[in-house]
Amino acid sequence: MTSVLVTGGAGFIGSHVADAYLAAGFSVTVLDDLSSGRRENVSKAARFVQADVGSAEARDVLADGGFTVLNHHAAQMDVRVSVTDPARDARINLLGLLNLLEGARRGGVKRVVFASSGGVVYHEGGTLPHREEARKLPVSPYGVSKLASEYYLAVYAGLYGLEAASLRYANVYGPRQNPHGEAGVVAIFGSRVHAGKALTIYGDGEQTRDYVFVEDVARANLAATRAPVSAMESIDTTAFNVGTGVETSVNQLVRLMLEAARVGIAVVQAEGASAQALAAADLVVPTIADALDLLAHPLRLVATLRD
Ligand SMILES: NC(=O)c1ccc[n+]([C@@H]2O[C@H](COP(=O)([O-])OP(=O)(O)OC[C@H]3O[C@@H](n4cnc5c(N)ncnc54)[C@H](O)[C@@H]3O)[C@@H](O)[C@H]2O)c1
Repeated sequence: MTSVLVTGGAGFIGSHVADAYLAAGFSVTVLDDLSSGRRENVSKAARFVQADVGSAEARDVLADGGFTVLNHHAAQMDVRVSVTDPARDARINLLGLLNLLEGARRGGVKRVVFASSGGVVYHEGGTLPHREEARKLPVSPYGVSKLASEYYLAVYAGLYGLEAASLRYANVYGPRQNPHGEAGVVAIFGSRVHAGKALTIYGDGEQTRDYVFVEDVARANLAATRAPVSAMESIDTTAFNVGTGVETSVNQLVRLMLEAARVGIAVVQAEGASAQALAAADLVVPTIADALDLLAHPLRLVATLRD
């Protein structure tokens, strides 16, 4: 049985990824410090280690554990925190990654699958949709940490032959997403629909984003775990956009949500766009998603609402 360590596996995306590995017959260990994740998101079929990715314990779990795959989802992922406290962002996202990679190479891990972000690594002025080789220019320390992580993976591939695949996600939505954060408009609207509260649209609601369902993201992780990895000619040859390639406006999203929920909910138009509320979600060309024929589907919103 192939053994995988999923960091951040008590969180939103990581827990779905861990579930997908279990369903595919992998032996799964989840490592998470529960800073935002929840213990109940971790399947009983997985082993659980509560630890910080930067700790000696996390490094030793990998160095001793006989893992074939490291799937790295744990992160400081708040763009605003990365701006106000860039050192904290780098400590968790960069020093944490390096700590894990040192454990991984000592423990003979073959492949690392890394959760990167299509919303923060590309040059914002570039033409949409972004292809993997599009110009990169992060505008936040969080974006720099995602891009730098991809470069560190390239270095470990070159130095130690550690295979790497980086998945650059669009806006991920689905069950277990935390609606209390500032991102994740689907989760925020979903929880308000549940509670019968009005939905607020900032600006004219015509801002578009690429929303991808979390179970499709989990499938992309399995594909990235199994597929042959190309030679590391640049970070882009082993990076894959994971999205739908479909632009959805906030207005469309509200319509879809209300249709799926089949209830009457007030919709409030607020003055002035809130870039933060809708942050981090440029349209990406879905390489893996194309291959898997993954398309946005309103039924998936229903699954999200039921959660
Ligand atoms: N949600 C999105 O739309 C999106 C988009 C692009 C990229 N990503 C990336 O996907 C990954 C997962 O995001 P998510 O939305 O599931 O967030 P999440 O907050 O639900 O999950 C992150 C998990 O990591 C854990 N964690 C945080 N810091 C840790 C540390 N120092 N040590 C150990 N565990 C730690 C948290 O407890 C949590 O369980 C992140 O790397 C994020 O940057 C997410």
